[in-house]
Amino acid sequence: MTQDELKALVGQAALAHVVPGSIVGVGTGSTVNCFIDALATMKDQIRGAVSSSVKSTERLQAHGIPVLDSNTVESIPVYIDGADEIDHQGCMIKGGGAALTREKIVADLAERFVCIADESKLVDVLGAFPLPVEVIPMAAAQVMRRFAKVYGGTATVREGVTTDNGNVIVDVRGLKITDPLAMEAEVTLWPGVVTVGIFGRHKAKVCLLGTSQGVRTLD
Ligand code: A5P
Repeated sequence: MTQDELKALVGQAALAHVVPGSIVGVGTGSTVNCFIDALATMKDQIRGAVSSSVKSTERLQAHGIPVLDSNTVESIPVYIDGADEIDHQGCMIKGGGAALTREKIVADLAERFVCIADESKLVDVLGAFPLPVEVIPMAAAQVMRRFAKVYGGTATVREGVTTDNGNVIVDVRGLKITDPLAMEAEVTLWPGVVTVGIFGRHKAKVCLLGTSQGVRTLD
């Protein structure tokens, strides 16, 4: 099976986790695009979606799925999103599509994070994928220096990218994230950091992993 077929497979499998009559949290990325297309087949069974990016909002609306303002929603049963890397405990690196801040906000509204990913995303230790950090532009150099000093990674500003919130993305290469919760807690405190793309506190409860043998559920 190709990677696109694996993404379509888990996008479809995620429908089983949608609670009928509820509002669904929707992530961002190519795997989530498959989920959104599948969700269109049951749009009459849900109240709508809370979206994590302008791109996902546009795709949901193109299918006629109502998108609600997150400020009007107190809690949702499930948030469905992809990942750039996921470890065996459900901790993830996210933000390859620059949507990490809104993704973490919607994940925080949700009772359960269901991650959908192809098998290439499963790792033993997070960090081979460059860690995205959303940063207020005036703090970019300061945050990059601090990364080099504290964790030894090599940080660069992602060229030509402005987030939906008007900020920049710093990508940090060469990290071995052996304690995701500790690094998430530390980096979140640095002035100018809006969101670090480690999802440890908001880790996946379930991961639907697309493999050539079918969907493997990790929970
Ligand atoms: C978006 O900012 C990311 O967190 C995505 O969820 C992640 O990059 C996965 O994207 P793909 O499904 O396109 O691999």
